[in-house]
Amino acid sequence: MTALLDVYHQIPLEPVRGEGPWLFDAAGVRYLDAYGGHAVALLGYAHPRLLAALETAARTLFFQSNVVPLAVRERAAERLLGFAPPGFSKVFFVNSGAEANENALRVAFLATGRPNVVAVEGAFHGRTAGAAAVTAGREKWYGFPAAPCPVTWVPFGDVGALEAAVDARTAAVILEPVQGLAGARELPRSFLEAARRATERHGAVLVFDEVQCGMGRTGWPFAAQACGVTPDLLATAKGLAGGFPAGALLLRESLATCLGKGDLGTTFGGGPMAVALVETVVDVIESERLLERVRRLSARLRAEAVGGVVTAVQGAGFLLGLRTTRPAKDVLADLRARGILAGGAADPQVVRLLPPLILEDEHVDRILEGLRAVPA
Ligand SMILES: Cc1ncc(COP(=O)(O)O)c(C=O)c1O
Repeated sequence: MTALLDVYHQIPLEPVRGEGPWLFDAAGVRYLDAYGGHAVALLGYAHPRLLAALETAARTLFFQSNVVPLAVRERAAERLLGFAPPGFSKVFFVNSGAEANENALRVAFLATGRPNVVAVEGAFHGRTAGAAAVTAGREKWYGFPAAPCPVTWVPFGDVGALEAAVDARTAAVILEPVQGLAGARELPRSFLEAARRATERHGAVLVFDEVQCGMGRTGWPFAAQACGVTPDLLATAKGLAGGFPAGALLLRESLATCLGKGDLGTTFGGGPMAVALVETVVDVIESERLLERVRRLSARLRAEAVGGVVTAVQGAGFLLGLRTTRPAKDVLADLRARGILAGGAADPQVVRLLPPLILEDEHVDRILEGLRAVPA
């Protein structure tokens, strides 16, 4: 019996503690966590820099809202802009990925005065009314009587369909450069470039949802840098504050100037503890040179994982999809029995690996050994 609403499929694991890339259950059994609670534990568990930042922030000023200036919030925003590709000039802090995307759409509607959005099949953008309207498969759980905007769906990677979909009524094109829930599917660079060209040509806003693929996960600060295409709005969350709830919307100056007092808002977004962690996460990624590590170890995983139960690897950096010979849910259970946690995907034949950026060679060895030991 539980007092919690029963809306989650649960996995048979009860973690009580985490340290580095490891999770421990009550019996002391250790699991290598290559999933991080839906891609959130970006720096693993109990990173000393995050613990220190959180404690200092909590002791100094537990909470204050956005109607007062906070030096730590200002620093976090500057740090995030410095981490992002050039071209962004403002940050709006929120609490989650859905909220970042919801506000991205709102900004696009306000700035263009247009009603339509173009989205990509397979996308997951969150569960709020606007973000879910542009999320594939939402019919099963949407719940609202109608979507707030007309949505044109473009098949994954189809440049011709994208070019045909964007027109003078389009407020925004929203996409994940690497689709997460779909199974770590990287959109071709040609598609991202076409999205940039089409939105420029028609005066629409290009939104990158980097809630899952941002914050170093691809081996680049953001996937935007990896593909060389800079959107007008960039939404990020998940590992942004290393596990503390936080999201952010980065805006180009041309869009930031379209907004005035009262156009956006949040009570908790940009709270002192969240932003102290944002600042620290960026600092740790840079000072510990984690992006180089992600690129090197990702190349190892890609090169060595294929064989046995894995037939192919897709995705980028530490957002990898392993195509499996057997249903992913069975492979996940087998891996769990061998002390490795990974995630599923909307594609039932894809296992998702989202390990922390602090991974080391020995952990990669262990993941590879685990995969080899699983029956094909
Ligand atoms: C790409 C992407 N966008 C948005 C979201 C929604 O984020 P949140 O659950 O923090 O609202 C997710 C969550 O899985 C995601 O993967």
